[in-house]
Amino acid sequence: SKQALASKASFSFPEIKHGVDETHHVAEGYDADVLIRWGDPIFADAPEFDPMKQSAAAQLKQFGYNNDYVGFVGLPYGSDNPDHGLLCVNHEYTSEEVMFPGLGRQDKDAEFAGMTRELIDIEMAAHGGSVIEIKKGTDGKWGLVKDSRYNRRITASTTEMTVSGPAAGHARLKTTADSSGTKVIGTINNCAGGMTPWGTYLMAEENFHGYFNGAVAEGHKEAANHERYGVPGGWYVWGSYEDRFDVSKEPNEPNRFGWVVEVDPFDASSTPVKRTALGRFKHEGAEPIVNKDGRVVVYCGDDQRFDYLYKFVSAGTFNAEDRAANMNLLDEGTLYVAKFEEGGMNWLALTHGEGPLTAANGFADQGDVLIETRRAADLLGATPMDRPEDVEPNAKTNKVYVMCTNNSKRKEEQVNVANPRPANTFGHIIELSPPDGDHASESYAWDILVKCGDPSVAEVGAQWNPATSENGWFGSPDNCAVDHMGRLWISTDQGSNWSKSGTADGIWAMETEGELRGTGKMFFRVPVGAEMCGPRFAPDDKSLFLAVQHPATDGTKDYPGFEKNSTFEEPATRWPDFKEGVPPRPSVVVVTKQDGGVIGV
Ligand code: FEO
Ligand code: CA
Ligand code: CA
Repeated sequence: SKQALASKASFSFPEIKHGVDETHHVAEGYDADVLIRWGDPIFADAPEFDPMKQSAAAQLKQFGYNNDYVGFVGLPYGSDNPDHGLLCVNHEYTSEEVMFPGLGRQDKDAEFAGMTRELIDIEMAAHGGSVIEIKKGTDGKWGLVKDSRYNRRITASTTEMTVSGPAAGHARLKTTADSSGTKVIGTINNCAGGMTPWGTYLMAEENFHGYFNGAVAEGHKEAANHERYGVPGGWYVWGSYEDRFDVSKEPNEPNRFGWVVEVDPFDASSTPVKRTALGRFKHEGAEPIVNKDGRVVVYCGDDQRFDYLYKFVSAGTFNAEDRAANMNLLDEGTLYVAKFEEGGMNWLALTHGEGPLTAANGFADQGDVLIETRRAADLLGATPMDRPEDVEPNAKTNKVYVMCTNNSKRKEEQVNVANPRPANTFGHIIELSPPDGDHASESYAWDILVKCGDPSVAEVGAQWNPATSENGWFGSPDNCAVDHMGRLWISTDQGSNWSKSGTADGIWAMETEGELRGTGKMFFRVPVGAEMCGPRFAPDDKSLFLAVQHPATDGTKDYPGFEKNSTFEEPATRWPDFKEGVPPRPSVVVVTKQDGGVIGV
C-alpha cells in the first residue's frame, strides 16, 4: 500500500504542506534562519541598509539583489571545513517595482518611466555576485565575518573581467571601449553556477539579451545572431544611458555576454575570467565533476524553450596537488550538445571544421562556433528541450540530473522522446547514465525520473512514484543539490504559475534509487511571489543554504486578499523584516536541524 511504501522513505523529516502565505516554512525539527539580506553591509565600512537612501556607492558595499546560485567552499582551501567558509552567491537581476519607491509596475512588459541614471547605477551595483566569509558560532548559528579579506562584490558596472579561451580577442568581441576583445566590464543575469574541484566559483550568464536596447539594421552581419538570442530584449533601460547596452551603437557588445565566468573566491583582487570554451548561450548553470580519467566535465543547460543541453570536456586533467595548475583547465576542451533517441543519447561535438561547422556556413573559426553556439547546435540537429535548467552530476552514483523546468509552448507535433508532453506547464526531470560512470563518453543511457505536476489531475499527465503524498509533488524543477547519500533536493520556480499548483515554490527531497525512486517530499516553502534558488549543502550536510529570490513579485495578482501587483509602497509581503516601510528583501536562509544533526536523515 501507499503507506507501507512511504514508511520506507529514506528522508526522515515530517513533510510540510502545499500552500502560500507571507512567510517561509520548514519541516518540523528544523530551523530556517535568515543569514543575509539584500542591502546588508558586507564590509566593516559599509553603510547600513536604508531603503529610502539607496545609492550605488552603498550598494557596492552591500549584499546584492535577487540571490540565486549559492556555492560554498570551506576555509582554509582544501579543508572541507563544514563550519567556516566562503559563500559565493549570484545576484541574478533586480526587481525595480519593489526595490525603489514610486515605481509600481503598471504592466509586466512596460519600461519603467521613472528610471534615472542614479537608479540604473544602483541596479548595476545590485547585479553580479557576492563572496562572503561565514562562520558557525558556538550556538550553532551562522554569521557573516564582516571584516574578512575575502568579502567581495562583483557587479555589472565596476568589475573588469578578462575573456579567455578560443573566442578571446575575436573580431566579433571587439568594441569601441575594448579594441582587444578581451576585456569586459561586468557580468549580468548570473543565474545558477557551480564550484570547481579547485575551489573557484562559476557564475553563469543567463538572460543577457534582456539588458540590451536598440537594434542593428536589417542585413547587419550580427542581425541573425542577435535574433537567435533574443537581442535586444529591452527589459531594462540601461541602453538609454550607456552606449554599450545600445546595440545600434555597439553591435558586438551582446557577444561579450552569455558566457560562464570563473572567479577565484580566495583572492578578492583576482580578475574574473569569461571562459568562452564553454559556449555562449543562456547558461542556467555550470556544474563540474572530475571524470574517472581526471578530465573535468561541466554540464550546462541553455534555459530557453526548445534550446539545448550541453557538456564541456576539458583537454587537460585535474591536479589535486597543485591548485594553480587547474586555473586554465576550462580554456581547452570539447563542447558537446545533446541529441536524444529512444533508448540512448549522443553528445555531438561542436568543433570547427567538423560536419556543418565550416566557413561555408559562416563559421570561420572555433571562435565563431562558440559565439554562435546555438546556431552551431541547430545545424547538428540537437534535441530541443523544455527549458533545461540545472544539470547536476551525482558524484556518488555518476548519474546526471537534468531539470527541464517547463515549456507551455510545445505543441503536440513538437514532442520528442526526451520532452514527451505538449504544453508542458510543470516540467520533468531527466536522468542521464554515463556508461561505467564515464562522463567523457559520447553516448549515455537515459530515463525520465518524474513528470511533474499534480498526479490527481489526469490531463496534467504527471508521473510520480505512487508513494508520493498530496504534498510531495511539485512543478517546475529549477535547481538542485545532491546530498552525501546521493539523494536529490530540488528547488522550484513556477513563476506566476504557482496559482495553478496551489503552492508556493520550495524544496522537495527526491528519492532516486530503489522502490521509492521518483517519490517527492516537501521540505521548505518560500513566501508569496518568491522563487526558490540555491540549494547548497555544507560539506557535512548539517547546513543547507537556500536563496529566497524576488519575494512579493511573481503572480501576486492571484494571492487571495491581495489581488494586485506588488509595489515598494504596497508589497504582497514584507518578508523577512515585516517592518512598515521596509520592502521585501531577497535573502539567503540557512537550514539546520535543531538537534544539530545531518539534514534529512
Ligand atoms: Fe534564471 Fe533559468 O532561471
Ligand atoms: Ca534558475
Ligand atoms: Ca529561475
